[in-house]
Amino acid sequence: MSFNVAIDGPAGAGKSTVAKAVAKEQGFIYVDTGAMYRAMALYFIRKGINSNDEAAVCERLDEIEIALAYEDGAQQVFLNGENVSGLIRTEEVGMATSNISKFKLVREKMVALQQEIAKTTDVVMDGRDIGMWVLPNADVKIYLTASSYERARRRHKELVEKGGTKTLEEIEQDIIARDYQDMHRENSPLVQAPDAVYLDSSDMTLQQVVDTIMNMINEKRAVS
Ligand code: DC
Repeated sequence: MSFNVAIDGPAGAGKSTVAKAVAKEQGFIYVDTGAMYRAMALYFIRKGINSNDEAAVCERLDEIEIALAYEDGAQQVFLNGENVSGLIRTEEVGMATSNISKFKLVREKMVALQQEIAKTTDVVMDGRDIGMWVLPNADVKIYLTASSYERARRRHKELVEKGGTKTLEEIEQDIIARDYQDMHRENSPLVQAPDAVYLDSSDMTLQQVVDTIMNMINEKRAVS
C-alpha cells in the first residue's frame, strides 16, 4: 500500500514549496495537480477557445493528453508530449485554469489520472480537492492557507523576480477572485476536509510548516 499525503489550500498559500520539501525529505514523489490543470488550460489558450465555454472545452478533452515525468526529482508536465512546465506559471494561465477546472468532465479526467499515480506510489499531492475527492483515504491531510495579503506578497515577489509588472494590489485582487471562484464552484469546490489539519502559514516560516507536516507523517507511519 502506498502512503499518501494530501495538501489543499487556496492560491499562493505555499502548497507547492511545502509539498516539494516534504516529498524530498520523505523520499516521496511530489504531484502538483495544479500544473496538470494549467497544462490543459494552456491548450485552450493556444487554440483561442474561451475557457469559460463548457461545451467548447469539454468536446475537445479527447485531444489532450497530460503526463507527468520527473527530472532530477522535479516534476515536469507534458501537454501532448511537449514539456510545458516553463509556460504555465502566468496569471493568465492561472485564471484560465480556474475557469476550466469548474467543469465536471475536466475534473473527472484529471482525478482519474491522479488516483492512478497515488495508488502505486508514495506521494505528496497538492491541489484544491485532494483530501476531499481525489484521495479521501490519504494518510495525512493538510489544509494550508495564509491571509490574502501575505499570499499576494509572496506571489508578487516571485513575479517581480521573473520580470512581471503587476502591482501587489492587482495580484491580491486576482487571488481574491480566484479563491472565490475555486471555493464557490459547483464541482469539487475548495473546502477543508473534515479530517484535514488546518495550518495558517501567515506567521510561520517554511521550515516550521515543513516540520509540522513531517511530524504528522512520522507519527502516522509509526502506528501504521
Ligand atoms: O495551485 P494552482 O495555482 O497551480 O492552481 C491553478 C488552478 O487550478 C486553481 O485556480 C484551481 C485549479 N485546481 C483545481 O481545481 N484542482 C486542483 N487539484 C488543482 C488546481
